[in-house]
Amino acid sequence: MSFSHTSNSNLSTRLIKALTSEQSGLLRSVADESARLGLPLYIVGGFVRDLLLGHHGLDFDLVVEGDAIRLARAMVEKHGGKVTVHTRFRTAQWFPPPATNLPAFVDFISARSESYKLPAALPTVKPGTLTDDLSRRDFSINTLALRLDGDSFGELHDELGGLEDLQAGIVRVLHPASFMDDPTRLIRAVRYEQRYGFQIAPTTLALFPGALPIINKLSAERVRHELDLVLEEEKDACMLKRLAELGILAGVHPALKWNHSTEMRFTQGLAAVQTIEHPPSHRSLAWTLWLMDVPLPDLEGIETRLHFESGLRELLLAASALFADAKSLADKKPSRCVEILKRTPLKAVQAVSLALPAGLARRVLRDYLETWRHVKPKTTGHDLMKRGLPPGPEYKRILGTLRVAWLDGELKTEAEEVDLLETLIRA
Ligand code: CTP
Repeated sequence: MSFSHTSNSNLSTRLIKALTSEQSGLLRSVADESARLGLPLYIVGGFVRDLLLGHHGLDFDLVVEGDAIRLARAMVEKHGGKVTVHTRFRTAQWFPPPATNLPAFVDFISARSESYKLPAALPTVKPGTLTDDLSRRDFSINTLALRLDGDSFGELHDELGGLEDLQAGIVRVLHPASFMDDPTRLIRAVRYEQRYGFQIAPTTLALFPGALPIINKLSAERVRHELDLVLEEEKDACMLKRLAELGILAGVHPALKWNHSTEMRFTQGLAAVQTIEHPPSHRSLAWTLWLMDVPLPDLEGIETRLHFESGLRELLLAASALFADAKSLADKKPSRCVEILKRTPLKAVQAVSLALPAGLARRVLRDYLETWRHVKPKTTGHDLMKRGLPPGPEYKRILGTLRVAWLDGELKTEAEEVDLLETLIRA
């Protein structure tokens, strides 16, 4: 990751260059409105970090020294769209009218200070300055801000040593209690470290062991969300490996493992996804490939800890059952395989087919997905009716037998099917 920062602490030119005219127009418009309301306005966090690293994100996190909800509402009056507000945190999300090149929403944050009464709980908040707001954040590299209102447009604010750490490629917490306040930051530290090829500062790394036991105080939703974010990353496998090494996966649940065979299955499975039509979503597939060899009772334990949504839960359970049993399909007739596989959700069959190494079992799943499940006899119920057969259970028996014969290679031509049909009708 190359770092490119000029000595100039006004980044307006770089900011303008990084944005389309619609995007900079949008920021200008918020800046004008906040200047009119007399509210200092900053773009902060990931956007500024990535801008300095030469990436162009669309994550507009705007901090206002004052009432961000009022500013977001003023934007709706000016441009339309809608706003949702969170009064507890004094934040708002503005959804501008949809337009190409514009972010779907902009976050408006009233600068605040936070204090944590209990580890891993939600903090108590009070209005504050930009510095207060930056001081409550996770890592120094996320504390850079660019002022947007008035003549100060593009002015870089580096209150907490973020620039130096960004330049040196260091992930550093701002204070020793940071992980105790919010143990999701353990996962976030690894995500930034691996994403950018940075190092976690030794003093920060030294805080990990003390914070690991606090992970179990986090709600299912918060931990799952952080792991979901990991699974969306390009370097997901490196991140999971590192999370395992640091004891973070075990801190979430002891059965969450990452080893060489998990890694092979995960990376090869995801890399082969384009060979499957209508595959599961990336996130579902990533979870499923990861957890496919976890024994059922452990999988249920992980599910109790993380509360997967019901579709993913069903996929995980079905895929792990099929994966455990897939080898036994290799010596069964195709019709028997179809009989078994049709009871398994299709997405689970797809996931397991991506997970298995080349061999007979994988061939069976591929044949099922690509061909066998679509095999039907040429004869239809309508044909049987035309032949004067009274509708009833016989139809199912005859059409089923014809299908089995096609699947198992006993029929090769339509003429052979007609012969078999005659025999079945007479039987
Ligand atoms: N933040 C934090 N502690 C958390 C989550 C977020 O302090 N547990 C702060 C970070 O400083 C971050 C900001 O809130 O910069 C916004 O969070 P998010 O959008 O998740 O982070 P980004 O910096 O935009 O990172 P990413 O590139 O991963 O989206």
